[in-house]
Amino acid sequence: MIHLTNLHKKFGNKEVLRGIDLLVEDGKTVAVIGPSGSGKTTLLRCLNCLERADEGELAIDNFHISLKKHSGRDTLSVRRKTGMVFQQYNLFRNMTALRNVELGLRAVQKKKQSQAEQEAKSALIRVGLEEYFNQYPSELSGGQQQRVGIARAVALNPRIILFDEPTSALDPEWIGEVLGVIKQLSDQGQTMLIVSHEMNFVRKIADHVVFIDEGLVVEEGTPDDIFIRPQKERTVQFLKAITDDWYYKI
Ligand SMILES: Nc1ncnc2c1ncn2[C@@H]1O[C@H](COP(=O)(O)OP(=O)(O)O)[C@@H](O)[C@H]1O
Ligand SMILES: [Mg+2]
Repeated sequence: MIHLTNLHKKFGNKEVLRGIDLLVEDGKTVAVIGPSGSGKTTLLRCLNCLERADEGELAIDNFHISLKKHSGRDTLSVRRKTGMVFQQYNLFRNMTALRNVELGLRAVQKKKQSQAEQEAKSALIRVGLEEYFNQYPSELSGGQQQRVGIARAVALNPRIILFDEPTSALDPEWIGEVLGVIKQLSDQGQTMLIVSHEMNFVRKIADHVVFIDEGLVVEEGTPDDIFIRPQKERTVQFLKAITDDWYYKI
């Protein structure tokens, strides 16, 4: 179980997150939706200790940390339990797919080279890239690069994978294969938190949907609660704005 409580974050005097609580149960997929600028990326970055929060606690099973005051050791513990998949893949351009995946295993998990290589290969196989171990990012399509990004997270065998709009930088032709890999991980019981604008996908894979706006949770529930029976006017406005045929689809 991953439990986040009372997350606050300011940039300068702009309050980006204003007290977010989030619970992700084991084996579940929780989706976070919300307009651009509502704080979704900041939320994931605080969860992964890439950003220091102003307030907030994180519990991963029996491990508790303050997201405001954490030591380097806490950060490493969090990174060992969480895998992050970024919008822009964030691969090292001068390293092959295999080396990119190995790097996390060596840096975060302190695995030996031979062990890291073996685990990196099996993660790449899980995302269907068994024939691309030695390719550099520039030799891979956008969809394949993002699958390397997913393999890098999967390889850590994390308690939770955090996805930040994993398909938003992709050409439309590559979106399906990346969503397919994410769906497969979800079906296999990987616990995950996913920020996505792919509403049909979110409806299909999420167990729980959280709508955030201006740094607060506006409404949350099952996909049907949010997409078919939204209670808040702000949720309705958002759904109308992003899906022009929303009234017809429900
Ligand atoms: N490092 C930063 N410094 C200053 N402002 C930031 C920084 N990161 C994000 N912001 C601001 O915080 C707000 C929320 O950003 P973000 O979390 O990226 O939103 P989302 O992912 O929902 O689009 C935006 O107004 C953004 O400009
Ligand atoms: Mg974002």
